[in-house]
Parts: sequence; structure tokens; C-alpha cells
Amino acid sequence: MVRQILVMLGGLAVSASLASAQDRSGVKTTSIQQTPAVDALQMFQSYCSPCHGKEGKGNGPVAAALTKAPADLTKISARNGGTFPAVRVSRFIEGVDVVAAHGTRDMPLWGSLFRSLGDGVGELRVANLRDYLRTIQQ
Ligand code: HEC
Repeated sequence: MVRQILVMLGGLAVSASLASAQDRSGVKTTSIQQTPAVDALQMFQSYCSPCHGKEGKGNGPVAAALTKAPADLTKISARNGGTFPAVRVSRFIEGVDVVAAHGTRDMPLWGSLFRSLGDGVGELRVANLRDYLRTIQQ
């Protein structure tokens, strides 16, 4: 199953697995498209819903093709004793802990992907996505 793409940027290859559509072999990948950093909903629908679903329930169109099921993002607080773990969520989206551990995971490392857009608002994107996730907790 092909899930990896290379986003070429100034000679730097950033590995990503942003999935947009399905083909018969599983998941077709695409390079990251620019969206307004202030529009968290549009970012979520472009970058996150393929796996996490439009409502963040973890049932996006490519979820079945992943080794690990995408988390239900409406239940982050519920899984954390009723408190939204804002710092942990930001770090998870960025992928900092994964990089530190030299590990791999099914979810793309959005910190480096957003930096690859070259618009200097990667941190704002992560913060706005984190705040958006806070609003969809059930
Ligand atoms: C290619 C599929 C995929 C995409 C795209 C994706 N995720 Fe994920 N996400 C996952 C998977 C799989 C997990 C389960 C945990 C793991 O991989 O370790 C996860 C877990 C998470 C978690 C951890 C939830 C918890 O309870 O700890 C957060 C937060 C999250 N994703 C946010 C996002 C956001 C925000 C985006 C869009 C910027 C996004 N994800 C895009 C696959 C994806």
C-alpha cells in the first residue's frame, strides 16, 4: 500500500502521508495545499478529515487503510478525565515527540509539513487547529 509522498522543498524531502482520495491499492496521496491559517475549519477539512472524518469522529474515507485507527477527536477531553490537554494536543499535531523518539506513526508530522508551506504561520496553524479541536469536544 502506498501511503508516502515526498514534498520537495529546496532540496529537502519531507515525508508525508496526507491522503486525499482512495484508489484500488488503498490510499492515494497528494502534496499539502495551502489554506488560510486563520480558518481552522477549512484546515481541518483539508488536512485532517481524510483520516479523522468531517466531524472528527475518526471515520474518514482513508481510515480503513491505516494500520492504526485515527483517534476520535471529539473525545480527547473525555479520554483525559474531562480536561482538554492543550499542550499535549499541540505537540501531537506538530509531531515533536515522535521526532525526538525517532519513531514513526500513521499520522503525518504537521509541524514539518506546515513549515514546508514556507508561509511562516505554522505555529498559528497548529494553535488554531488545537483550539478548533477544543470546540468539538463532547
Ligand atoms: C493519514 C491519517 C491522518 C491524518 C491526515 C491526520 N491524522 Fe490525526 N491521527 C491519525 C491516527 C492514526 C491517530 C492515532 C494515533 C497515532 O497515530 O499514534 C491520530 C491521532 C490524532 C490525535 C491524538 C488524539 C489523542 O487523543 O491523543 C490528534 C490530536 C490528532 N490526530 C489531530 C489531527 C489533526 C489536527 C490533523 C490535521 C492537521 C490530523 N490529526 C490529521 C491519523 C491522521
